[in-house]
Amino acid sequence: MKFKDQHIISMRDFSREMIDHILSAAEVMEPIARGEQRSDLLAGKILAVLFFEPSTRTRMSFETAMYRLGGDVLNLGSVDASSISKGETLADTIRIVDGYADAIVLRHPKEGAAQLASEFSRVPILNAGDGAGHHPTQTLLDLYTIKRESHLEDLKIALAGDLKYGRTVHSLCYALSLYGAQITLISPKELCMPEEIVNDIVERGAEIIETDSVEDAINDVDVLYMTRIQKERFPDPAEYHKVANRLKITTESLKDVKPGLKIMHPLPRVNEIDPKVDATLHACYFRQAFYGVPIRMALLGLLMGAIQ
Ligand code: NCD
Repeated sequence: MKFKDQHIISMRDFSREMIDHILSAAEVMEPIARGEQRSDLLAGKILAVLFFEPSTRTRMSFETAMYRLGGDVLNLGSVDASSISKGETLADTIRIVDGYADAIVLRHPKEGAAQLASEFSRVPILNAGDGAGHHPTQTLLDLYTIKRESHLEDLKIALAGDLKYGRTVHSLCYALSLYGAQITLISPKELCMPEEIVNDIVERGAEIIETDSVEDAINDVDVLYMTRIQKERFPDPAEYHKVANRLKITTESLKDVKPGLKIMHPLPRVNEIDPKVDATLHACYFRQAFYGVPIRMALLGLLMGAIQ
């Protein structure tokens, strides 16, 4: 398996073997991610961080991953303070930054931006979210979380919330289909999973159930993956207000779920999970955010050729 110098654009490009390899590499990284062991694996390497959209976890966990492995980070910082505000194209920005760094992590509001960047870059591009498109590194940490906290074999999982614009669930579906998961899609009708993705993942071996009610669907699942309604992607704010607050989990909604149910969320949450749920044994979204560090350490190590 060759990861060195590869771009990470979409989960569609991954085989199960590739995913399992990255998950195993992340396990080895975990003590370093926790600060219990030191490493200089990426000493002398630089990761450029180009975020054209807000981020807390994705950006900071990539940065932490580099620092924990002895590498450095070059952050574009605010787009307004860069030449992009003078009208520089993404292609030109990438052609400059690839001379300054060994890999580039990119988040951009336009679907397809990471693919475009990869066509101009001499170093690996890591897609950290392209509009409503894909978010493959989030999926890898989601799978790592499922493996650590539940099980990937014979998994029954419900994905709930904004399945239309949510890039994390688009990527996650593709990966879950490789594990033959039974996937329940829960969303208001206006925000259902795009038909082409449903068709693709059924073809790849997933079993799909679609519904618009959380209560009916969660009692039989091992994992409930909640998502935020992606307000910023609605062309018409009135349409957002129609669906906002439609799906919400409270401790009351959890009274008949499996004792081992794990609730995940890529975060940020808005109001789709009541904070009272945080204290239950089901909540694992804060640990999930931590798992982004070992996963991104593993990926960076593989892409930069420091591990195999
Ligand atoms: C997600 C994103 O940016 O797509 N956040 C993240 O990376 N953890 C989810 C979201 O913004 O709702």
